[in-house]
Amino acid sequence: MSKKIFSGVQPTGNLHLGNYLGAIKNFVDLNNDNQNECIFCVVDLHAITVKQDKDQLTNNIRETAATFIASGIDPSKSIIFNQSKVHAHAEGSWILSCMAPMGWLNRMTQFKEKAGKDKEKASVGLYIYPILMASDILLYDATHVPVGEDQKQHLELTRDIAQKFNKDFDCEDFLRVPEPLIKKNFSRIMSLKDGLKKMSKSDPSDLSRINLTDTKDEIINKIKKAKTDSLPIPNEYQKLKDRLEAKNLLGIYSSISDQTLDKTIDEFEGKNFSDLKSQLAEVLLSKISPISDEIKKLVNDQNYLDKVLVEGANKAEEIAGKKIKEMKKIIGF
Ligand code: AMP
Ligand code: TRP
Repeated sequence: MSKKIFSGVQPTGNLHLGNYLGAIKNFVDLNNDNQNECIFCVVDLHAITVKQDKDQLTNNIRETAATFIASGIDPSKSIIFNQSKVHAHAEGSWILSCMAPMGWLNRMTQFKEKAGKDKEKASVGLYIYPILMASDILLYDATHVPVGEDQKQHLELTRDIAQKFNKDFDCEDFLRVPEPLIKKNFSRIMSLKDGLKKMSKSDPSDLSRINLTDTKDEIINKIKKAKTDSLPIPNEYQKLKDRLEAKNLLGIYSSISDQTLDKTIDEFEGKNFSDLKSQLAEVLLSKISPISDEIKKLVNDQNYLDKVLVEGANKAEEIAGKKIKEMKKIIGF
């Protein structure tokens, strides 16, 4: 069956191995299946829900597009664009924010995490962030949305909003109810320093993550310093239950080498972490370094990146512009 794929990544710098294994690697596989129509969006309107430096934001938009391309997304097959270039996203977001009850938004755990203790100081944008995400997805009639596990709740909200709109305006199937595409294993890559925290761009310790722009030496050093424990690697997954850091490293190894965790455990059973770490560093260098080199090359070619983004925005505008027009007609505008 042909799928309509939509996903987004925020241009907030430091794209890391979690973004790659949780999301971008799947984008590439979906892009490579000729049956699919894929749209990958640099969600710059989402980025400004927290304060951004102007010049850095501009650079990060290009770098995120470069990361998509360097990872293997082909801009002649998939649409790559940045959200702020297509008016319908913000307009759709307003309309949907008038449909979505506050009670639904109050349940969103990402807002609670990001707003921290002082909720009063968080921007209203951060609060309604999931509604903009729903607008992104619904404007393109997306059937499938590849994301990391942390976005599952936002996808459920998107589905609820679509169903409510269709019901409120008596327009069955007008907004397509999308399916999440979340990898079953290791859809959540954890920090290299703390198995309880997810790998994140905003972690103050750079040693907690492998950035997609890290040099070979940085990758080797970070894997060397990654937290482990003193026991050897067990012979079955169950025995890793309380060994979060060990589980994470084995999971990263499985995910990046496209093999099951059982196979990885078979491979390393009884060995100690120095063996796993040296092989993990090797496989990361072979998979991540070419991407990193290509990102560095592409960010120096601003004209090319801007051309990809403009052409992508023109194609996206055609699809989303039509949908928002129909949406406004349904409402009575
Ligand atoms: P963001 O950088 O927050 O825009 O996230 C972009 C994509 O990467 C989303 O699909 C996230 O779910 C995914 N992602 C971010 N961090 C991780 C992580 N530590 N493990 C797995 N997926 C992640
Ligand atoms: N909220 C997503 C994240 O933080 C990014 C995003 C915005 C997105 N719009 C989207 C993902 C639409 C999928 C589809 O990772």
